[in-house]
Amino acid sequence: MCGIVGYVGSKKATPVLINGLLSLEYRGYDSAGIAVIENNELSVLKDKGRVANLKQMPEIENLNSSIGIAHTRWATHGKPSRENSHPHLDNSKQFAVVHNGIIENYHELREFLTSKGYSFLSQTDTEVIPNLIHYYYTNGISDEDKFLRAVKSAVDDLKGSYAIEVISKLYPDRVIVVRKDSPLVIGTTKEENFIASDIPAILPYTKDFYLLDDYEYAVIYKDHIKFFDNTLSSRSKAIKNIEWDATAAEKNGFEDYMLKEIYEQPNSIRETIGSRFKLGEKCSFDDINLSKEYLQSINKIYIVACGTAMHAGLIGKNAIEKLCHIPTEVDIASEFRYRNPIIDDKTFCIYISQSGETADTIAALKLAKSKGAKTLAVSNVIGSSITREADYTIYTHAGPEIAVASTKAYTSQIVLLVIFAIYLTENLGRSDVATTESLKADILDLPTKLESVLAETEQIQKFADKIYTEHDMYFLGRGCDYNVAMEGSLKLKEISYIHSEAYAAGELKHGPIALIENGVTVIGILTNPDLVEKSISNLQEVVSRGAKTLIITNQKLSNSNFNYIINIPEINPLVSPILSVVPLQLFAYYIAKNKGLDVDKPRNLAKSVTVE
Ligand code: F6R
Repeated sequence: MCGIVGYVGSKKATPVLINGLLSLEYRGYDSAGIAVIENNELSVLKDKGRVANLKQMPEIENLNSSIGIAHTRWATHGKPSRENSHPHLDNSKQFAVVHNGIIENYHELREFLTSKGYSFLSQTDTEVIPNLIHYYYTNGISDEDKFLRAVKSAVDDLKGSYAIEVISKLYPDRVIVVRKDSPLVIGTTKEENFIASDIPAILPYTKDFYLLDDYEYAVIYKDHIKFFDNTLSSRSKAIKNIEWDATAAEKNGFEDYMLKEIYEQPNSIRETIGSRFKLGEKCSFDDINLSKEYLQSINKIYIVACGTAMHAGLIGKNAIEKLCHIPTEVDIASEFRYRNPIIDDKTFCIYISQSGETADTIAALKLAKSKGAKTLAVSNVIGSSITREADYTIYTHAGPEIAVASTKAYTSQIVLLVIFAIYLTENLGRSDVATTESLKADILDLPTKLESVLAETEQIQKFADKIYTEHDMYFLGRGCDYNVAMEGSLKLKEISYIHSEAYAAGELKHGPIALIENGVTVIGILTNPDLVEKSISNLQEVVSRGAKTLIITNQKLSNSNFNYIINIPEINPLVSPILSVVPLQLFAYYIAKNKGLDVDKPRNLAKSVTVE
């Protein structure tokens, strides 16, 4: 889970590399480095710490090269230190490599190289790669395409996941890249080419991209690119035009990406809805052609994802079961892939991943495919790995999500899953028109209603100001309100480092209520009219044990024992999580801000979890 950037063109490479790294810092930020080819030698600058440290190194000004590679790290092998930072060189200092991923057999490779006289300066798995390239380069590779062949021989030895960039002082006009299970895109223009782990890093320069496939090699010059398959046969590749606007990936006057992304939700939801339905017409997904016979044969749906995306899946399950009457299970991808789930050709599997690069989710998808199930990816990133593995893909179109804590992707995932549930029920012939039409009207109302929730921000901020020094908090709800409680609790933990738990309100008295004592904060989510009275009784139990309570509700509460009440608009319970989660996102945000924390880059986390 690191970020890599590369440039080859005519202008100075370092500003492009540094700017690219800055926008990839969400992928990791414990060390950063660059390598360029300067006067036919490799110059490397790197150290632990953020990209800002690298940017301030005085030597950086003296690098005038127009070819280079760069890296921002999230440590897996070896602590953050200068030695462990990328780029890594081979012993002869002829090859420089940056790598995102994990080389699982690096011990073996290190022993092999050590037996051949190579030594290592770092504890990383990556350092074997430049040395392997050097080994093959100097041992029996024919002269034709010698650099590429040496890289390919080295890569053939690697087990694990990788996106790799290589430059060599012997070939100062090109960057070689290859990937497997780690993302890598190439942005292209007539005079210069850009490489990055993710599209936003190079959006300011171009909207034309090549999306590299697994085991595919690209040799990138300033004015052309050659692509090769895994046997080094050359292949042609189509350019993909990416519509995202570069300014959409900037902060636009907000203090942090997270706040900007929370505020973008009315708009991101409009984009997600797009033209997928109109009132009075059936929902359509252009890219999906599932026959009615196939749909009728489905006897089980799995929704598989990690973290926040999994929480969105829980809301999706509710919609699918209510509207389509198909039993639906939600699974954590890292569990699903190892628990031997019961899957056959009547199982339909939905995989949700904002980034589309989450290793566990991709592995879980491959597993279901291998057992004959049809797979659908729900992703935000066009051309991401998961979309290339799945039989079908539907995009959330929420725009780039940069903050590590997911907000707008979550609400867009829910909207899309609910629309997909309507599409399923309509195509199964099981829909009740009055129900689906009224739900559609409510979905279309979401952006406006969300705007009114955002107008209450100040109230949430006030509550956060009062309680940000606390150490434990509890979130309660029933049904989908419980699922939202889980998401609110995760948001709070990950950015404020406050311990919190979410409980199904009815479960409280089976144990957790022992934790409630005077002054503890409990947040209740009460939006489902059928369940509100029951949840109120559970909240009463914590009030009478001295808890402070914040209630998010769309109901008129007769009881006013609660300390703070945030009122949100009423809406169909299938989509009310989209409104009720927003105060919880803001709550976590303001608590973290009060604590002086970096909300966009919380400790120990990375945006895209491309390792197991
Ligand atoms: C939490 C968060 C994570 C992600 C999870 C899956 O705010 O962002 O829990 O939801 O790592 O990521 P994707 O959706 O990219 O597969």
